[in-house]
Amino acid sequence: MLTAVLFVIIVALLVWLFKRGPRDYAPNPFAEDTCRPPKPLVTDKAARKKVLKQSFTAEKVPENLDAVVIGSGIGGLGVAAILAKAGKRVLVLEQHSRAGGCTHTFSDKGFEFDVGIHYIGELQEHRSLRVLADQLTDGQLQWAPLDNPYDVLVLGSPDSRRDYPIYSGERRFPDELKKRFPEESTAIDKFMQLVQVVGRDVRFMAILKMIPKPAAKFLIGTGLLRILSPFFKMAPRSLAEVVEELTANKELQAAFTYIFGTYGVIPKNASFSLHALLISHYLEGAWYPQGGSSEIAFHLIPVIEKAGGAVLTRAPVRQILVNEAKKAYGVSVQKGDGEVQVYAPIVISDAGIFNTYERLLPKEIQTMPPIQQQLGMMNHGQGGLSIFVGLKGTKEELGLKACNYWLYPDNNIDELTEAYYRSSREDAAKFSAFVYIASPSAKDPTWEQRYPGKSTLTMLTFVSFDWFKDWEKEQVGQRAAEYQNLKEAFIQSLLNAAIDVYPLIKDKIEFVDAGTPLTNQHYIAAPRGEYYGCDHDLARFRPEVCAGIRAKTPVKNLYLTGQDLFLCGFAGALAGAQLCASTVLGRNVIWDLERLRKKLEKESEMKKMKAG
Ligand SMILES: Cc1cc2nc3c(=O)[nH]c(=O)nc-3n(C[C@H](O)[C@H](O)[C@H](O)COP(=O)(O)OP(=O)(O)OC[C@H]3O[C@@H](n4cnc5c(N)ncnc54)[C@H](O)[C@@H]3O)c2cc1C
Ligand SMILES: *[C@@H]1O[C@H](CO)[C@@H](O)[C@H](O)[C@H]1NC(C)=O
Repeated sequence: MLTAVLFVIIVALLVWLFKRGPRDYAPNPFAEDTCRPPKPLVTDKAARKKVLKQSFTAEKVPENLDAVVIGSGIGGLGVAAILAKAGKRVLVLEQHSRAGGCTHTFSDKGFEFDVGIHYIGELQEHRSLRVLADQLTDGQLQWAPLDNPYDVLVLGSPDSRRDYPIYSGERRFPDELKKRFPEESTAIDKFMQLVQVVGRDVRFMAILKMIPKPAAKFLIGTGLLRILSPFFKMAPRSLAEVVEELTANKELQAAFTYIFGTYGVIPKNASFSLHALLISHYLEGAWYPQGGSSEIAFHLIPVIEKAGGAVLTRAPVRQILVNEAKKAYGVSVQKGDGEVQVYAPIVISDAGIFNTYERLLPKEIQTMPPIQQQLGMMNHGQGGLSIFVGLKGTKEELGLKACNYWLYPDNNIDELTEAYYRSSREDAAKFSAFVYIASPSAKDPTWEQRYPGKSTLTMLTFVSFDWFKDWEKEQVGQRAAEYQNLKEAFIQSLLNAAIDVYPLIKDKIEFVDAGTPLTNQHYIAAPRGEYYGCDHDLARFRPEVCAGIRAKTPVKNLYLTGQDLFLCGFAGALAGAQLCASTVLGRNVIWDLERLRKKLEKESEMKKMKAG
């Protein structure tokens, strides 16, 4: 009986979700394959500037806009490009001097650094993320695979250091772990089984945000969601709890959980489901954008422009314009001492929930109960600190690899990290509970051509925003000496960690600087210097929260996109963009993309068969 009821409900849901496309009048953004053979990499600075740094003026605002997007992160550019492919004229406004949000790059002393793209999974040919990235850039964005192992977990202090290389491959990932933990093969198999069932089931997250609210309520209230979705069944369980059940081996527990740095919540506070999603994300390999991460925006922007839209920078939005009927109708942009109003029937925000609701909405709208209710569901994520190092020498000379190192001074990650967050800022700077080390230059096959004889390293760690709060009001570049000293202390301790991993860099350091949570506030408008937007804690995975935070906001004509709508990461923010575009267009663009994906896959199989 239950099976029959379930069956009917599933069929009804599927029909509802998938039938929508053809009935709708908005054109299908993925009606045809728009990929063209990739053009040569553009290295000319002026040519790149023309695309990535088009400063805002009132004259550059296109007429008769269909939508305006606040923020040019991948969530903002992504939704703008999808709408552009459906024929819409979209303006994207970015407060920083260059487009891209977390995907932007910057140069200092002749070195190029990227900010927030280190590796992305699920980009093998014909995977939906790859097809989406291809279509949104007309096939111009190219990807370079990392080495295999793509990660190395390093546990212990330098004198007791244990390295655990992590390999991609559904078989290889567990097999290599078993080589290191031969007595633990049952635990490893069980972990893999759970990861595969739970991690591949994130579609219900999208479904909850797309189906009518009463339908979502029904799924949650009846308990059907937990029966239908392994993701939501496991979502309330913490990563630490699940892993501790599988094994008592602390070293293996660390190997199962180290990648929590990709979303920033320590194992005891993280949802097992999110973690499983991340492990499956990288299970088939990891990629880096060829030509550096600014290539992402560089190739998305022309697609937006082709439909009559534009992406303008130095355009801080100060307020979302809302009329008496509580409908959004545009934004007000700061320009010099004055403001320029930009009108559009649809306003989309990629600026994150806290910025959008607490800073950009007029006061009387902010206090609306449904807005307050959504704000109450989310917390600020963990602050991050980044060290950028410029090196003399090629990757061969310095021994740098296209692989990430994750360092923890011991295998009791939860306790270490909590003690670290509780410590004073001076102590924290001397002893990081967590260090991520990677060489972006070593991952990019075009680097040597662009920056011969040079290399870069980036180190990341999490920090408490409170350690930096004292200097929040001071201007960038003019902060007090104590702030510089604290930065310097973090630089020293993270450099020492990097030298331990890559000893050859020791005398080759030509440039080093640190970006603190205050830096993140300034350049990516992260309200508390967060790396990944709203916190990805257990509470965020309550189905009520997942169903409650939608592209459609309580303010008519105002929509959300990006990482706060779905999840962090290139893939997560783009999923947000797809949800937002679906809501705005009134058609399921995820399904549109899936149809194109299947067609392309079939065509490529046919070609192969003919050739063979
Ligand atoms: C250090 C770091 C490392 C990371 N590593 C990886 C990785 O290896 N792989 C991966 O997949 N993901 C990674 N991520 C996460 C990923 O980069 C982000 O989750 C994703 O890019 C977020 O996209 P978004 O569009 O939602 O937000 P953002 O990129 O933050 O974009 C929001 C934009 O809105 C702008 N904005 C805000 N307010 C206003 C306003 N009032 N007016 C105008 N503009 C405004 C901001 O300036 C910003 O450009 C990393 C992130 C960081 C910080
Ligand atoms: C973990 O969660 C608890 C309970 O919500 C919270 O008090 C604590 O600060 C969290 N720890 C970290 C490091 O986030």
